Amino acid sequence: MIKLENVSKKYGKNVVLDDLSLNFSSGEFLSIMGPSGSGKSTLLNIIGAMDKPDLGKVIVNNEEINRFNEEELTLFRKKHIGFVFQFFNLFNNLTVYENVQIPLLISGLKEQNRIDEILTSLHISDKKFSYASQLSGGEQQRVAIARALIKNPDIILADEPTGSLDSEAGKNILSILKDINKTRKVTILLVTHDINVASSAERIIKIKDGRITD
Ligand SMILES: Nc1ncnc2c1ncn2[C@@H]1O[C@H](COP(=O)(O)OP(=O)(O)O)[C@@H](O)[C@H]1O
Ligand SMILES: [Mg+2]
Repeated sequence: MIKLENVSKKYGKNVVLDDLSLNFSSGEFLSIMGPSGSGKSTLLNIIGAMDKPDLGKVIVNNEEINRFNEEELTLFRKKHIGFVFQFFNLFNNLTVYENVQIPLLISGLKEQNRIDEILTSLHISDKKFSYASQLSGGEQQRVAIARALIKNPDIILADEPTGSLDSEAGKNILSILKDINKTRKVTILLVTHDINVASSAERIIKIKDGRITD
C-alpha cells in the first residue's frame, strides 16, 4: 500500500535519503528508528506529500505521488494523511474544540458531530473549551491526534510523537496510537530515535545515513 522504490533526496550536497526502498501494507503499525539526522523526518515528509524525492518512486494507495504537481499533492495530503508532531503544533489561543475543527473548516466539511466523538474516544472531551495552552503535554498531544483523525485519514504519520513527553504521558500516547491502528484500521508510521518507543510497533525498520540497515 505504501511503497518507496530507490528514493533519493539531497539538500545541496548533503545526501539525506540514499537509494532507499521500503514497503508496507495497509493497516500496519510500523516504526522507523534511527539516530538524529538519519533522514527520518525527510522520509516521513516524502510519504506524507509534504516534500518530493529527487529520484525514485513513492507509491501510496496505488498512486505514484512523486509525479504529482503541487495541487495534486495538497489534495492527496488532505484526503489521506494525518500528521502528528513532537511539539504538537496546536494553536495555543484556540480551544481544544477549535483546534480539532480547523481541518474541517479548511476543507469545507460539515462533520462537526465527529469532533465530539473523537474527543470522547481520546478522553479529552472534558477539556473541549480549554485553550490548548492550558493543557499538559500529554493532553496537547491527544488533541493533536484528534485533529489528525478528524478527516478519517488512511495513514497517520507521527514524527517523534512522544519526544517532548514524560515517560508516563508517552506510554499513554503510544497506547492510543495502537488503539487507533486496531479499531480504526488506520495505518500508522511512527518515527523515533528511541528503541523503547519503536518497540510498540508491530515492525521496526532501522535507518542510518538515509539507508535502511538491518
Ligand atoms: N529543509 C532542509 N534543508 C536543508 N537540509 C535539511 C532540510 N531538512 C533536513 N535537512 C538535513 O537532512 C538531514 C536529515 O534530516 P532529518 O530528515 O530531519 O533527520 P531526522 O529526522 O532523522 O533527525 C540532516 O542533515 C538535516 O540537516
Ligand atoms: Mg526528525
